[in-house]
Amino acid sequence: MTAKIIIDTDPGQDDAVAILLALASPDEITVLGITAVAGNVPLALTEKNARIICELAGRPDIAVFAGCDRPLVQPLVTAEHVHGKTGLDGIALPDPTMPLQAAHAVDFIIDTLRAEPSGSVTLCPLGPLTNIATAFTRAPDIMARVKEIVLMGGAYFEVGNITPAAEFNIYVDPEAAEIVFQSGVPLVVMPLDVTHKVLTTRPRIDAIRAIGSPVAHAVASWTDFFERFDMAKYGAEGAPLHDPCVIAYLLAPGLFTGRHINVEIETTSPLTRGMTVADWWGVTKRPKNAMFMGDVDAAGFYNLLTGRLARL
Ligand code: RIB
Ligand code: CA
Repeated sequence: MTAKIIIDTDPGQDDAVAILLALASPDEITVLGITAVAGNVPLALTEKNARIICELAGRPDIAVFAGCDRPLVQPLVTAEHVHGKTGLDGIALPDPTMPLQAAHAVDFIIDTLRAEPSGSVTLCPLGPLTNIATAFTRAPDIMARVKEIVLMGGAYFEVGNITPAAEFNIYVDPEAAEIVFQSGVPLVVMPLDVTHKVLTTRPRIDAIRAIGSPVAHAVASWTDFFERFDMAKYGAEGAPLHDPCVIAYLLAPGLFTGRHINVEIETTSPLTRGMTVADWWGVTKRPKNAMFMGDVDAAGFYNLLTGRLARL
């Protein structure tokens, strides 16, 4: 039974690896479409990058849509300091020739959820939640039709990466995150608490590079670029490979462990805006709305990733 998914994304080198992992797994995952959102870099680049990645995977047939170019309320904050000016720095790849779909990403999300059987489509946001929240606000009927949302975002024990309190995807659009986390749609959350446990160590990247394909070369080049910022900041032996955790969960959920807890989003405090307030210890009576992951089998994750990338 393949999972039918929509990937909502702001590529971003780690988004790129997640998209490649999904496209390398057609027996388990059917990508109904890829919707780009402003985040790591502006929308004009995230939609272009999504198409570059699809062509690298040999999948110019994938429908790529441009979505929201700014958060619901906040001014756009981008992360060129991490991802470079293009968002895919590390290797120069040709401009895409595959088309960008004419429809807006939000309309694609709404139309697809209404057209597909209820409960059959999984949403996989890898960036700020602006597109998802806009779709839910414009068409509330679709919320009950979503099978589940598996997203990368938030943090609890790992605390913030863009501010001391907030993780980037949530921080960029906390109002959108609040809509998603209060939607009642089943949520699986991949926070920094797990993504910081899947570091791009040298042996792991060398194993990917050894595949010897253009895809492997691109992934190794991206991670070489992407990791310089996090390694300098954290002094770690590699960078967290955030977004592929979402796709790895669809392929091998047993790699991850977590708790079904209440998670609320701070939207008003200038100091802690974008914080995911996770009731990990159950100290409140607030409704449990998210499967919040806390641990991951990092070796298993990289074995899965490397094996699948070798298929492209
Ligand atoms: O905080 C990490 C997240 O922000 C990842 O999704 C990365 O791609 C950026 O979007
Ligand atoms: Ca991302």
